[in-house]
Amino acid sequence: MGHKLLITGATGLVGKALVKQCLADGYTVHYLTTCKSKIVSQVNYKGFYWNPQENKIDIACFEGVEVILNLAGSSIAQRWTNAAKASILSSRTEALALLYSSIETHKLSVKHVISASAIGIYPDSKTRYYEEKFQGIDSSFLRTVVKSWEGRLKPFQSIGVKTTALRIGIVLDAHEGALPKIIGPIKHYFGAALGSGDQWQSWIHIDDLVHLFMFVLESKLEGIYNAVAPNPVQQIELTKLIAKILQRPLVLPNIPEFALRLMLGEMRAIALESQRVCASKIQDAGFKFNYLELEPALEDLIA
Ligand SMILES: NC(=O)c1ccc[n+]([C@@H]2O[C@H](COP(=O)([O-])OP(=O)(O)OC[C@H]3O[C@@H](n4cnc5c(N)ncnc54)[C@H](OP(=O)(O)O)[C@@H]3O)[C@@H](O)[C@H]2O)c1
Repeated sequence: MGHKLLITGATGLVGKALVKQCLADGYTVHYLTTCKSKIVSQVNYKGFYWNPQENKIDIACFEGVEVILNLAGSSIAQRWTNAAKASILSSRTEALALLYSSIETHKLSVKHVISASAIGIYPDSKTRYYEEKFQGIDSSFLRTVVKSWEGRLKPFQSIGVKTTALRIGIVLDAHEGALPKIIGPIKHYFGAALGSGDQWQSWIHIDDLVHLFMFVLESKLEGIYNAVAPNPVQQIELTKLIAKILQRPLVLPNIPEFALRLMLGEMRAIALESQRVCASKIQDAGFKFNYLELEPALEDLIA
């Protein structure tokens, strides 16, 4: 039997795929969930309740655990009301804070925390090519969230726990997340590029992201890594490729920015911001992507 892992956010898009891989690789998975109805208890897969915003956690979840994979966070794909914004931030910062205080208080034997982060830490730019060492984060909402989120990894380091932050790009999955939302309108003949269409979108195939987490886990890599495929594309290209694969024409003009502002409010940033992100650091560490280019990734997911 392999080692025991603790996964937070295990019931989400990335979490479900990651759990499947961990179990296939012989790990025992403990997971934390904020939803009591999602708790199951099997030999290799056991759920525990927590609520970071209320500082509640079932401490039994840590039994025998040396590595934590942290994916918890309330979805950013909701209208950014003040309450939603507070929850987007605190669900992430409080999750890491509660994991830390549990480890510190109970002198637990956790050795490595591998946490999701996001490319939303990089400012909107059509021309920059972002490496992990980039400094110069602005004060927009997404930047503030991701910066505070990554900041909560520092206390672990001070008690000798290794940390890794994976700055995840747009995760492409056949059933959940961004891709089905983009595919829907194109399939029904009203697909169009968003805004100017020339904003860079740094994507990653869900299978590669799962393998990337396993790679970091098994090679005990520390530090900050971009988790994006090596070939980001501009939004118009993504739209065109999907239309080509679905054999649909793209007849409508781009959806203008003001319409997206009306439809999405401040959250339009997700669709309109441009982040061209570099994958070299993780490749130099030895990680091999299965999906380097967008077209085969989309063909695999849409077929
Ligand atoms: N998907 C993407 O394109 C993408 C891109 C960049 C970064 N990321 C980051 O990667 C992580 C995983 O993404 P995902 O797409 O798998 O997200 P997801 O499908 O929304 O799942 C996130 C999980 O977090 C837990 N959660 C929700 N609200 C919470 C709260 N208030 N407190 C604690 N836990 C809460 C939920 O698990 P329970 O209901 O079991 O508690 C949920 O299943 C997220 O942190 C996300 O920000 C994702």
